[in-house]
Amino acid sequence: MSDFYETKLAPERAYLVGMEVRGGKPLLPLEDSVEELALLAETAGLEVVGDAMQRLHAVDPATFIGSGKVNEIKEAITALDAKVVIFDDELTPRHQRELEKRFGEEINVLDRSALILDIFAQHARTHEGSLQVELAQYEYRLPRLTRQWTHLARQAGGGGARGGASGVGLRGPGETQLEVDRREINNKITKLKEDLEKVRVHRETHRRKRRRSGMPVVALVGYTNAGKSTLLQSLTGSKTYVADQLFATLDPLTRKTELPSSRKVLFSDTVGFIQKLPTTLVAAFRATLEEITEATLILHVVDVSHANVIEHIEAVEETLAEIDMPSARRILVWNKADLWHMDTPPRIPAHLREDYDAEVMISARKNTGIDALLAQIEAVLKASMYRVRLLVPYSDGDVVSMLYDLTIVEEQTHTADGVCMTVQVPAYLYERIASYQILEQG
Ligand code: GTP
Repeated sequence: MSDFYETKLAPERAYLVGMEVRGGKPLLPLEDSVEELALLAETAGLEVVGDAMQRLHAVDPATFIGSGKVNEIKEAITALDAKVVIFDDELTPRHQRELEKRFGEEINVLDRSALILDIFAQHARTHEGSLQVELAQYEYRLPRLTRQWTHLARQAGGGGARGGASGVGLRGPGETQLEVDRREINNKITKLKEDLEKVRVHRETHRRKRRRSGMPVVALVGYTNAGKSTLLQSLTGSKTYVADQLFATLDPLTRKTELPSSRKVLFSDTVGFIQKLPTTLVAAFRATLEEITEATLILHVVDVSHANVIEHIEAVEETLAEIDMPSARRILVWNKADLWHMDTPPRIPAHLREDYDAEVMISARKNTGIDALLAQIEAVLKASMYRVRLLVPYSDGDVVSMLYDLTIVEEQTHTADGVCMTVQVPAYLYERIASYQILEQG
């Protein structure tokens, strides 16, 4: 994409539509969700010029929102000269086609998922990240092969990492799309899956090495913009990309560092979460998110000053549940304390609080509370490894190799009954090996 367009064209004018269907269980109040959508649109390089909201009894099979509202929006976008209409919920391909028909050919109808995919395409920096975004984009596009998805065709086809979509990317003149037929996209999906598989094999080799090192992994998770990258920087002194926009971090970054006790740990930053994350994206990023499942400890970073902080915690918890998190220890890190007016964090519902071993208030930007956080990390890590003595029968050779892969083997001797080992196991593995445990003599 040429710089000419990037610099000369004004951002595309976008109009937002929020909807709430009766009986649904939205995480955020309608107005807050639309406000978040506006942030997403701005991050994608659009200019938000207006919005409309509707609370519905039922979804209209043709246009999602009611026809009166469609007309109202049509008038508004004409008056405001908006060229893009973005719906806050995922639209079916049928809704999309029908709405385009009603609004007129020159209007692009998008939804939150398309927007998030667009932002991800702009931010992917590693080869794997780009492949994952491309895959998610193609899977999203496949049932929606009409001209308005041209911008995605251009990005996904050209490699998500190139980015620079902004307003221009969302415009799409309509030609490329028509040339891309279903079969071609299916072929691309197959090829992307193969490429990703290769990257995964490579990643697995890395993981094995890491496991052998016995170094605990501390994963930073959190709602987008909570301050994970800034915290990783304060904790490890490394330069990571920090920006006041959504999803600046897409690919997991791992940094080795030493805790005050000189114990070495790996801190791993992960992709930011958001409510209504597109399902194709969660699926495509599963491998990246699986990094989290390797973690001994999770630091859930939250922006204490955000009005929807509790909902953010819930959204992250929901996504973690989707990727089958093992029972890693967790610390709730209330970040941006410098923007918070009280000494204590807001109260969170008991069922959420239960999941955490500790809570710490910090400011990653001002570097306050970091020592207290490090002390908590040390304490929780200490408590999350068990030192056990095991007797593994020779018939269970695979268990011995698993132990070498996943635990710290301190000692091993061969006896008549099997291999006798002293190992340090992370808590999440304990149940799997508990039946081999023997009591220490004497
Ligand atoms: P994603 O990439 O979207 O997942 O974001 P992230 O969680 O990695 O957030 P990041 O570290 O990029 O920070 C987002 C914004 O919040 C940046 O502008 C930071 O400077 C700001 N920020 C982070 N920590 C603090 C803090 O303690 N106080 C204040 N005032 N701002 C902070």
